Amino acid sequence: MVGAQKKMNKQILLSGIQPSGALHIGNYLGAIKQWVDLQSEYRVFAMIADLHAITVPQEPEALRNKTLEVAALLIACGIDHKKSVIFIQSHVPAHAELAWVLNTITPLGELERMTQFKEKKDTSGEMAGLLNYPVLMAADILLYQTESVPVGEDQQQHLELTRSLANKFNNRFGDTFRIPKAHIQKDTARLMGLDDPTKKMSKSTPSANNYIGLLDTPDDIRRKIKIAITDSGKEIAYDEENKPAIANLLRIFSAFSGSAVADVETKYRGTSYAEFKQDLAELLVAKLEPIQVRYHERAGDQDALLKILKDGAEQARAIARETLYNAQNKMGFLTSLK
Ligand code: AMP
Ligand code: TRP
Repeated sequence: MVGAQKKMNKQILLSGIQPSGALHIGNYLGAIKQWVDLQSEYRVFAMIADLHAITVPQEPEALRNKTLEVAALLIACGIDHKKSVIFIQSHVPAHAELAWVLNTITPLGELERMTQFKEKKDTSGEMAGLLNYPVLMAADILLYQTESVPVGEDQQQHLELTRSLANKFNNRFGDTFRIPKAHIQKDTARLMGLDDPTKKMSKSTPSANNYIGLLDTPDDIRRKIKIAITDSGKEIAYDEENKPAIANLLRIFSAFSGSAVADVETKYRGTSYAEFKQDLAELLVAKLEPIQVRYHERAGDQDALLKILKDGAEQARAIARETLYNAQNKMGFLTSLK
């Protein structure tokens, strides 16, 4: 009873990840690890954002497979389905319904200014779904009266829009939505590509040498770190401006080893790039191995995985529906007749 009471009083943390491409260490350090670490403090909602994934073209079979892969990986990374809610976005209709409502108070100009829209529109075509993507994300967050949203830096702009829409709705129709806060981890909010340290590590790049995937084999990890771009000069030093590639690798080393960046820098000062990279590769192999073992166990038991997702959706639906009806009721919809 005390346990149940405690769970009820916890504030909500919600975040999402799209089931497209290979999950990589940027997703893990920038986002998923925060969800895992904050599970005792918050009631965590870990959402697989399939509605967001289709804002760029997806192969149906690949989308199905990736959705289950991401679910198994979230559990393998440490999301505990007994404490936290793991669910698929499209299983909760309230997300699309609230997004529609929020669309009616979202200025078009604000959506057109979004960095992600500007970056993606040329390669993916200017679809209305891509433009409205941040509004759906606002709905995801606001439906759960979310307090904290742990994300990488690229999502900060979307969080600002979410806060502004919530304030606007509350001012016009009365207090309805909690105003959420972004939770951004300074050193790991933006891991850069291994093959190009001027761009963020991304699962949608043409080359898999850009990232370390959570499911990469030990040999792949060693190879990718070995060929990762380094800067001119020989010295291992943390210098974002003049040595962005080494700075990125130092931040990755620091996050996986639990040592401060400055300590890693001191430890490797005077050694070679090759020696540092070799240790980094072994560190990554060792840290990803337990995740991969748990992943293969989970992925091998589809029935159990589907049950977790079904339970998660039921819990999410109950909360989301309540907020949606409250918002619609305030706007003058006849929700009591539904
Ligand atoms: P996505 O892959 O776009 O679904 O992103 C899932 C989460 O990972 C979001 O919170 C992103 O901000 C975060 N993320 C994606 N790429 C990176 C990166 N290179 N560095 C840090 N966080 C990232
Ligand atoms: N847009 C996020 C991304 O690409 C994924 C996402 C969808 C999300 N809905 C969310 C993140 C709600 C946080 C909260 O990274």
